[in-house]
Amino acid sequence: MSAKQLIILAHGGAGSDNAHSDGTDHACNIGLELMQSKTPVLEVACRAVEILEDDPRFNAGTGSRKRSDGSVRMDAACMNSENRFGAVSSIEHIKNPIHVARHVADSEYRLLTGEDAHQYAIELGFEKVDMTRIDSNAPGTDTVGAVVFDGTQFAAALSTGGTGGSRPGRVGDVPLIGCGLYAGEHGAVAATGHGESITLNLTAYRTYAMLEQGIAPQEALETALSWFEDVQDIGLLIVSRKALAGGSNRSMAWSTLTEK
Ligand code: GLY
Repeated sequence: MSAKQLIILAHGGAGSDNAHSDGTDHACNIGLELMQSKTPVLEVACRAVEILEDDPRFNAGTGSRKRSDGSVRMDAACMNSENRFGAVSSIEHIKNPIHVARHVADSEYRLLTGEDAHQYAIELGFEKVDMTRIDSNAPGTDTVGAVVFDGTQFAAALSTGGTGGSRPGRVGDVPLIGCGLYAGEHGAVAATGHGESITLNLTAYRTYAMLEQGIAPQEALETALSWFEDVQDIGLLIVSRKALAGGSNRSMAWSTLTEK
């Protein structure tokens, strides 16, 4: 693989229907076009995730699952290989939480949460949207995400509506650095699946550490999947300077596009 190759991978979440890969194809197409016009990788990853947030078949943004009390709270995060990271957790009434996380990455903070994250978004000019009116019943899907490489820099982005029916207050892996995502000079990783297990395994950072050791993405993927029991859904996208890999122990809509 040439060091100058443009690469993007996007997933619709562990458990998402493989037949919905037209959605992840669309995210990759837009992302590749942006890279062709020299858009920075962090923007590219966030724009790809925005497209997935706007697709109600996936559990993020518009398709976010409701918690046990009927409310919708969302988490999102982004990171690039220049050590820029931003996240929001338990944000509500915002159509695209990934772009709020992107603003946090440019701020003096790394993670904003709850009503205060919502207020931050409103101050930035984001529109308030009543997400609870959206009836999202697609079963068993999880976090959406993307990883990007423009030949120089890496980035990863994630967004989720969390676990449907969960107790209010629960937060999963997505806004926790090194759990759901990680990006560094050797590659980028975006995970999806059972948030508590992804967090306990420090999944994204330990997967990234394998890339740092020179382990190929496919081998790193297989090793990372082996950390999880069959009852715990898990999926990963990985890109390094040498190769890429994606897979899940469930069905998972995912796509990749590359261009020299
Ligand atoms: N993987 C997303 C969550 O568990 O919240």
